[in-house]
Amino acid sequence: MTTDPAPATSVAAVPSPAGPTDSSAAVTTAAPATDKSTASSTGATVQFVGLRRTFGATTALDGLDLTVNPGELLALLGPSGCGKTTALRMLAGFETPDSGQVLVDGEDVTRIPAHRRDAGMVFQSYSLFPHLNARDNVAFGLKMRKTGKAERHRRADELLELVGLPTHGDRYPHQLSGGQQQRIALARALALQPRVLLLDEPLSALDAKVRLNLREEIRRLQQELGITTLFVTHDQEEALSMADRVAVMHAGRMEQCDTPAELYARPATAFVAEFVGTMNRMPGALAADGQTVELLGQRLPVDSAAAELRGEVDVLARPENVLVTAGGGQGAVVTGTTFLGASTRLTVQLPDGTTVKADLSTHDAAALPAGTGVTVSLPERPVLVDAKR
Ligand SMILES: Nc1ncnc2c1ncn2[C@@H]1O[C@H](COP(=O)(O)OP(=O)(O)O)[C@@H](O)[C@H]1O
Ligand SMILES: [Mg+2]
Repeated sequence: MTTDPAPATSVAAVPSPAGPTDSSAAVTTAAPATDKSTASSTGATVQFVGLRRTFGATTALDGLDLTVNPGELLALLGPSGCGKTTALRMLAGFETPDSGQVLVDGEDVTRIPAHRRDAGMVFQSYSLFPHLNARDNVAFGLKMRKTGKAERHRRADELLELVGLPTHGDRYPHQLSGGQQQRIALARALALQPRVLLLDEPLSALDAKVRLNLREEIRRLQQELGITTLFVTHDQEEALSMADRVAVMHAGRMEQCDTPAELYARPATAFVAEFVGTMNRMPGALAADGQTVELLGQRLPVDSAAAELRGEVDVLARPENVLVTAGGGQGAVVTGTTFLGASTRLTVQLPDGTTVKADLSTHDAAALPAGTGVTVSLPERPVLVDAKR
């Protein structure tokens, strides 16, 4: 018997095919032996508690708190360098925090190294093993676990079917497209029925159409398997379209974690407001009681303006919430139009020089070509009030 702590969970990582900072080890780890039957049918709960990690003068994680619920697909979204990959590697066991904890189903796994979080299977690769065909790539972890050949081939073929490539088992990586290779990588990560799936920008090197297909495919599989999934991306559209919840990271911290709709409609900070979707910034004046703001000749109610914000502020509103009408004495002018299909985005210059984007139906926009004198207003309360920039 060993006195080592039992592996608390299993982790599967699908790294991006060509991410410059992500060329790290990919790991698929086995489910604990006692847990084979239930693995991947019950998603694990993952908690990051006050994770801090510095690399020399760089603070990669600055007190990251985050909980991923069982069976949830949570997208970790943020600009390059904000600490997403570092957070993912903490969960895989490749990285140890300076302080803070990683809990899986309530168990502290922070100090359990990667090779003991899994059942002894780590492979160093950020894409498929080039000398193995697709079937053997998928079956690799099973082989490491000494699963018999017939059984691992049966299982690999099952997984190839699951990712939509039932006839590709004999092909080598160079005979597969990028999208197919990522499907194989996904099958490989799922082969050992991990309870947590980690995906680090798995779609970023693929072309647009393949990316869209694979988005749907990953989401379908993830829901079918009920597997708790942490999906790292810097692409807000990808995060919003795939995830149950999106955690927006900024400089090593979590700014907000919410459903895509909440995040979009009620961003907690100006950073989130401007990172997710398109946002206008317009000058306004916040009343002394912080309850209303004056802009565009209107007085509008505002939500929870910070106490230190009074007087001159910036007011944040989405293009689809900006109203533009012809004429009026405001002195605003349409300076450009961008046809988007059903809608058209107008660029309007306010008399003070501020540029505002407004989305109108293409039908309505047709009456407001560039050069038209217009009036800009906000029919609703703005999304956020922020310090003047
Ligand atoms: N092994 C390392 N050595 C030095 N700096 C690192 C290392 N890993 C990450 N960093 C730095 O930590 C920050 C966060 O990196 P990372 O987690 O890869 O960000 P993201 O995945 O969000 O782009 C970056 O400034 C990066 O350069
Ligand atoms: Mg990264």
